[in-house]
Amino acid sequence: MDKFLIRGGRSLSGSVSIAAAKNATLPILAATLLTEEPCLIRNVPMVQDVRTMMKLLTVLGKKVEAQGNGLRLSDGRKLNPEAPYDIVKQMRASYYALGPLLARERRAKVSLPGGCAIGPRPIDLHIKGMKALGAEVTIEHGYITAQTRRLTGAEMVLEGSHGPSVGATANVMMAATLARGRTVIVGAACEPEVIDLANFLNRLGAGISGIGTPRLVIEGVEQLHGAEYEPIPDRIEAGTLALAGAITGSRIELTDCEPEHLTALLEKLRETGCECETGPRRLRVNGRPEIRPVDINTAPYPGFPTDCQAQFMALLCLARGRSVVTEHIFEGRYLHALELARMGARIDVDSNKAVIEGVKGFSGAQVMASDIRASASLVLAGLAAEGETEISRIYHLDRGYVRLEEKLAKLGADVRRVK
Ligand code: UD1
Repeated sequence: MDKFLIRGGRSLSGSVSIAAAKNATLPILAATLLTEEPCLIRNVPMVQDVRTMMKLLTVLGKKVEAQGNGLRLSDGRKLNPEAPYDIVKQMRASYYALGPLLARERRAKVSLPGGCAIGPRPIDLHIKGMKALGAEVTIEHGYITAQTRRLTGAEMVLEGSHGPSVGATANVMMAATLARGRTVIVGAACEPEVIDLANFLNRLGAGISGIGTPRLVIEGVEQLHGAEYEPIPDRIEAGTLALAGAITGSRIELTDCEPEHLTALLEKLRETGCECETGPRRLRVNGRPEIRPVDINTAPYPGFPTDCQAQFMALLCLARGRSVVTEHIFEGRYLHALELARMGARIDVDSNKAVIEGVKGFSGAQVMASDIRASASLVLAGLAAEGETEISRIYHLDRGYVRLEEKLAKLGADVRRVK
């Protein structure tokens, strides 16, 4: 298993380019199951979760071939509508196979994803949506089995107690593209990745309107065709690297990003005293030596993203004073707090709230990654720490970031991957 060794305390400078969004690419790749015609997805971020999706699509019968910096996906053989446990357990987003398979093959068997380090992750809204479209859904032997003679459009509310669901909105939207008649999803997620998927589906010939609003309308069509597409830039990678600039008090530039998708994060970053200057597909960050404390509340888009909570917390650990972070999406998403504490942070977690008393600095230590974004927060702490930080279980980081150590090294950080 790979580890990262980080020698902290270096100032960063220069410019790096942001990859396409993992969380947009995954559903877009799954959506190619909806058509028998070839699709070309350009600029695919080759993170581990994307490789897992490629493996899943191959098992399901798609032919997946590299083409330039992208992937060409075509029908290889008759589709096999079963997503097995050994792949689904590697990546929850495997559930994106459910909607497309049900729509096109009229049956699907997808392993239940099970638990996750960031807390309970129910899939009741996905199932509610498929049932609303007329599928018979049963859960047995650890699998969701769904079948239908043909899906039929319906009006449904897809919000749960924690607000809209990105995954359920995407899954049901994909299923509804081939349903008979009109589907209306009320309480739809408005994340840029959901918008990107809707735009891709329309490129395939789907009839989706209300894109980017909480009320999506999908007019079902008989079939979809092939298309070429490039997913949006990764706002979470951009946020993480912006925070790398802030936590090291450095001036860096991010290119090929979409600052508009980062409004809530940049607002909070500015409140800490960091200067942020945006331009078309570009963001400049100028970290200041003094970090002011701020309070963070995670929320569905356009609110502060839960996927940047851990990384922002690393910054707040070094603020002059007390900050309060409240996690509203995944209430137990605080495993990183315990690891940051091993590096000298003072964080008190009480249910979904974390109270952070700023300290003068981190001290390098051996720490362990627990999920994608928690790993990133440890990397940020390591960059600012005095001495050496060793982060084990880096495979979590590799699920979501394209060679983060190379991007940081390009900015001047001393980060090494060791086997
Ligand atoms: C996606 C992202 C993940 C991000 C999250 C929230 C991908 C692959 N993953 O995850 O990185 O952290 O959005 O922005 O894009 N919920 C239910 N029932 C359901 C589904 C969800 O109650 O059937 C709850 C969840 O427990 C959570 C909230 O709804 O409290 C939002 O989750 P959701 O938006 O579905 O997250 P994912 O799509 O799994």
